[in-house]
Amino acid sequence: MELYRRPVDSAEAEAAEDEVGAAGQPVMAAAGGAVAPQSASAAQSSFFGEEPTIKAGKGMVAAPPAAAAMPADERAEALRAIREDIGDCTRCALHKGRNTIVFGTGNPAARLMFVGEGPGADEDAQGLPFVGRAGQLLNNMIAAMGLKREDCYIANIVKCRPPGNRTPEPDEAHTCSPFLFRQIDAVRPQVLVALGATAATYLLGARQPLAGLRGRVHAFRGASLIVTYHPAFLLRDPRQKKEAWADLQIAMKELGLKKSRD
Ligand code: URA
Repeated sequence: MELYRRPVDSAEAEAAEDEVGAAGQPVMAAAGGAVAPQSASAAQSSFFGEEPTIKAGKGMVAAPPAAAAMPADERAEALRAIREDIGDCTRCALHKGRNTIVFGTGNPAARLMFVGEGPGADEDAQGLPFVGRAGQLLNNMIAAMGLKREDCYIANIVKCRPPGNRTPEPDEAHTCSPFLFRQIDAVRPQVLVALGATAATYLLGARQPLAGLRGRVHAFRGASLIVTYHPAFLLRDPRQKKEAWADLQIAMKELGLKKSRD
C-alpha cells in the first residue's frame, strides 16, 4: 500500500474536473467482441464525483498461443472446470478466515478483464468480487469507459479474504494466482487492467512502484496489460482519478473504443 502514496497536487485535481467536462461520450470503434457501448457522460461524472453514487510467480504455466483461443461457448465450461479444480480450497492459510471463495465473475468471453488484490468483507460475504464501495467505484470506472460491468470479467489475485484486508502474502498470492492465470487463458481478454500494486506485482512477476508501471501497455498472456490505481485507493485520494482515467483511456484505445470528442 505504501507504493500508492505520493504527493497530490491540488491544481491537478482541478484539471481533472475540467477534463471530465470535456471528456465526451465514448463510442465503439471496433465491431464485434463482448463489450457494448452505453451513454457515458453521466457515468464519467459519477466516476469523477467526490463519492460513488452508491454508497510471474511460481506455478505459472505458459500462456496458450493466440491461435488456441477457445470458442466463446467453451470458455464458460473452462471456467467451470477451474472452479471445480479449486474445490473447497485449503492450499494456503487464507482458507481459515474465509467465508466464501470469491472465484471471479462476468462475461466468459469478455474483451476486458480487471484484476484486483483480494476479497474484502462484502466480497467474502457475497462470494463476488468488487461488490463493496471499491466495487461501486469500479462500476463507475467501467461505465465511464462506456461499458457495462457484465460485459467485463472481474477477478482477484487471491480468492479468499486476507484477515483484516491485509495485503496477501507472497506464498498466498503464488499459491492462488495459477488459477487466475487459467481464468485469463480461458477468457482470453484483449485487455487486462491490473488494479493496484498487488495485482501488477503478481501479474507482471516483479515488484515495482506503480508509478513506473502506469501509462504504458505491457504484454501478458496474449493480452495488453494496463496498470492503474486500485479503486480503494481512489476512494481515499479522489484527486488521483484523473490519472486513473488516463490509464483507462489507454485501455479504451487498446479495445478500439474512442471518445466522441475531446
Ligand atoms: N478489493 C479487491 O482487490 N478485490 C475485491 O474484490 C474487492 C476489493
